[in-house]
Amino acid sequence: MSIYLDNSATTRPYKEVIETMVSFLSEDFQNPSAAYRDGLNIERKIKKAREDIAKTLGARSDEIIFTSGGTESNNQIIKGVARYNKARKKHIITSQIEHPSVLNSFYDLEREGFDITVLGVDKKGRIDIDELKSALREDTCLVSMMHVNNEIGVIADIKEISKAIKSFNEDIVFHVDAVQSYGKLRFTVDELGIDALSASGHKIHGPKGIGLLYVRRGVEFSPLISGGGQERGLRSGTENVAGIMGLAKAVEILFNGLDEKIEYMKKYRDTLKNKIVDEIDGVRINSFDDGVCHILNVSFLGIKGEVLLHFLENDDISVSTGSACSAKKPGSRVLKALKLSDDALEGAVRFSISEENNMDEIDEVVEKIKTHLSRIRKISGYK
Ligand SMILES: Cc1ncc(COP(=O)(O)O)c(C=O)c1O
Repeated sequence: MSIYLDNSATTRPYKEVIETMVSFLSEDFQNPSAAYRDGLNIERKIKKAREDIAKTLGARSDEIIFTSGGTESNNQIIKGVARYNKARKKHIITSQIEHPSVLNSFYDLEREGFDITVLGVDKKGRIDIDELKSALREDTCLVSMMHVNNEIGVIADIKEISKAIKSFNEDIVFHVDAVQSYGKLRFTVDELGIDALSASGHKIHGPKGIGLLYVRRGVEFSPLISGGGQERGLRSGTENVAGIMGLAKAVEILFNGLDEKIEYMKKYRDTLKNKIVDEIDGVRINSFDDGVCHILNVSFLGIKGEVLLHFLENDDISVSTGSACSAKKPGSRVLKALKLSDDALEGAVRFSISEENNMDEIDEVVEKIKTHLSRIRKISGYK
């Protein structure tokens, strides 16, 4: 039996998502911009999908833009807001542990002449609010912070961050990368004070290649993609109808009984963590109990996380050593920012859980880790 514990990298699409997509790739294939009945019918279905998704964020449907995923949403809002404000405001702020789609957008803008501030984090992966306050400037136009970190699962205090920004200047756009929190935490954009938000389909049992960008009414930005004026001119290109409808189906299923699903993932995470701590020597838990329900990052000292990953792979157990996009590059940037020892850095493994994981898997996972660890540690001479 295979055990999939890499749900932060991607999730298995729900069966109903695939069925929905197939129907929009076969029977309902028409262009939603077409003027005849079949086209209008699809346009109506997209409208309903947009409304249903908006509701889960406490947003209005005209504040949702469909994109190709979290990466595009992050690029679009960061570059779009910065470039729109370029003539007057040239300063933007983010943090050190952001996803590369945020950080590299910042570095692209720096090359275009923007001033960027990249805030450091404490040992838990949190920015210092006072440091943020003193970084804010008269010419700051955007702050972008992730809600949940994809490697360690720390939850940022978005409400406090928003308060700090807005009490300095209401006009600064506050963007939140919610790719790892949407569908894992219950929140609305109003209660957290969010102006713009990115989320992605494939992290919530939806399809890859579809995502969304929430942008509060009144927030102005320059579109990255010009063309036929779809998505109210903010993201041109014929709509990814199957992707949008698949995403809406995933959202519908996920948010039905979400609280129970979150509790279940938390229970799985804690049981796995406790068993690892109780039964294995030389481990360091890099995630915190008040972190997100689905991520557990653990360092197995004296080994390379990558080696353990490949041993587990032979048992049909999928884990990762960091984020999927840096899975093939050594040394996690996020864990380095937390100032972990070299040993802890090298031995880090991320277990990421979904509602589809079965509690019965835990014993097998821990048993396999114990067996492999003792072999690897014997070879590496770890005492
Ligand atoms: C925090 C975070 N932001 C953005 C992304 C990028 O999303 P996508 O894969 O949809 O482009 C990811 C995906 O790993 C992520 O974890």
